[in-house]
Amino acid sequence: MTDDASSSLLDGRALAQAVRDDVRADIQAWTDEGHRAPFLSAVLVGDNPASLAYVRGKEKDAAEVGIDTNTYHLDADTSQDALLERVHALNADDSVDGILVQLPLPDHMDEHTVIDAVAPSKDVDGFHSENLGRLLRGTPRYIPATPFGILEMLSRSEIDPEGMDAVIVGRSTIVGKPLAALLLRRTANATVTVCHSRTRDLAAHTRRADLLVAAAGQAAFIDADMVKEGAVVIDVGINRVDDPSAERGYRLVGDVDFAEVRPKAAHITPVPGGVGLMTRAMLLKNTLQAARLHAAHA
Ligand code: GUN
Repeated sequence: MTDDASSSLLDGRALAQAVRDDVRADIQAWTDEGHRAPFLSAVLVGDNPASLAYVRGKEKDAAEVGIDTNTYHLDADTSQDALLERVHALNADDSVDGILVQLPLPDHMDEHTVIDAVAPSKDVDGFHSENLGRLLRGTPRYIPATPFGILEMLSRSEIDPEGMDAVIVGRSTIVGKPLAALLLRRTANATVTVCHSRTRDLAAHTRRADLLVAAAGQAAFIDADMVKEGAVVIDVGINRVDDPSAERGYRLVGDVDFAEVRPKAAHITPVPGGVGLMTRAMLLKNTLQAARLHAAHA
């Protein structure tokens, strides 16, 4: 595949819309059965502009599908104890199905302590150590939204990872590690390599990839030389780069040099309009699942 027209765009906008349409129909059926609408509480600490934008996006998506939300916006200098108190109150509140603590947290807080304070049954991010353990064991409760969204994009595009050499660049707990576990499952059956900042000869790995997932948080660093002809390329990066000609003074680019790589790839996700929208959509799916879980245990 060498010409641009033959490389197909994995369109996050359309695929995420399809997920939201399904979730909205499922929530309609759920409330028709007499249940209240699912409820998601978001907790945001400080004023990180990217975090503010994420939380606003999540609120908008939730409203579209019939999920009720409220957001607790705490000052950047809030103590960890005060944040934990808020989380404990949400854990104890029967009207709250899902709890999301937006990351990153300010430096004076310990993320693991805060995440593990969320009730595992309400941890719609799937970041609690119990939920990550369940994922690794192969009996997931909530699948973290970004890797979940990547799998959903592949399955809705009829791309089967079975037997593929999957190379993930980035070993984060939010994306790289859980995605590796998911691709290894017998439901996916990929052969998985996880690369990171200390990998010797990164390009030698990425060039073998049938499925290449870039999740390192470095603008446009995957170039055409690092990609095999006909690969499926999933770009998880959302990097702000200065652009005086843009209205906001910056623009968003992925970890992949899209213009260079697109002609070589069989399928590629754009940034923006790719994985990020899927992440938001899968959170909605997890929130409906949380509502079902709570109704079953009420
Ligand atoms: N920060 C970046 N991605 C995420 C996410 O998926 N969930 C939360 N809570 N914080 C994030």
